[in-house]
Amino acid sequence: MDETYFDLNCPLDLALLADFHNSDPVPVLESLKNNKPDIITIAGDFVFGDRPRTGRLKIEENPNAVELLSGCSRIAPTFISPGNHEYTLIKADLKVIRRTGVTFLDNQWTEYKNTVIGGLSSAFFTAYKAFRANCPSKELYPKPDNTVRSRSIPPDMAWLDGFEQQPGYHILLCHHPEYYPKYLKNRKIDLILSGHCHGGQWQFYSPIHHRMRGVYAPGQGLFPELTSGVYDNRLVVSRGLANTTFVPRFNNPTEIIYIRKSSGK
Ligand SMILES: [Fe+2]
Repeated sequence: MDETYFDLNCPLDLALLADFHNSDPVPVLESLKNNKPDIITIAGDFVFGDRPRTGRLKIEENPNAVELLSGCSRIAPTFISPGNHEYTLIKADLKVIRRTGVTFLDNQWTEYKNTVIGGLSSAFFTAYKAFRANCPSKELYPKPDNTVRSRSIPPDMAWLDGFEQQPGYHILLCHHPEYYPKYLKNRKIDLILSGHCHGGQWQFYSPIHHRMRGVYAPGQGLFPELTSGVYDNRLVVSRGLANTTFVPRFNNPTEIIYIRKSSGK
């Protein structure tokens, strides 16, 4: 796992974790303890898997994720927004998550030391919540219809106007970087933190773009643009903390990102 440092004039030292997918929390927590960020942000996909069918809660099927969240909140205030792998989480799951001490931001914001921290939930999460609220099934996690899984559903943008109008430096957790060009580029948000792409699985240097590029990313397809690093000096895309496919990563190590208020490292 790489430790990647960026200096983006953020008023806080922060850590960005993404796509942990119930993997091993030990190296992540070790790194956080050594780096001592002011806050920890988790931009989605801390759990792994689809709709549980075991009768257990989804969060109970992801014990390493609970260990990660508890460990993070012992180190620094921790803020999370849900990604697509969290899409089925229900109130009982969220109760367990909040009990770890983290702040779960589902299309909402909170204030922390002159910053406003928001979480733009994955549209899959928002769509499943609406589907479940109107579903007559008594199942804990009813099978969703196809609309929930559609990639064309937009995220809930209604709350972003109020978020933008708050005074202070604006940080937005947004699991899907593909939302940036479609929905966020023209908004007054200082820092947008995302993941989801796992670095595009294989990374190559593009002499045309003068930067590393990935090969494939869900939501962006082949040769995606936004897979790793900083774009427009404010969108930060993590390569993630785990590998979830049988295809190995190439030239694309997992990473934890540290954004420093000054370039001390
Ligand atoms: Fe994802």
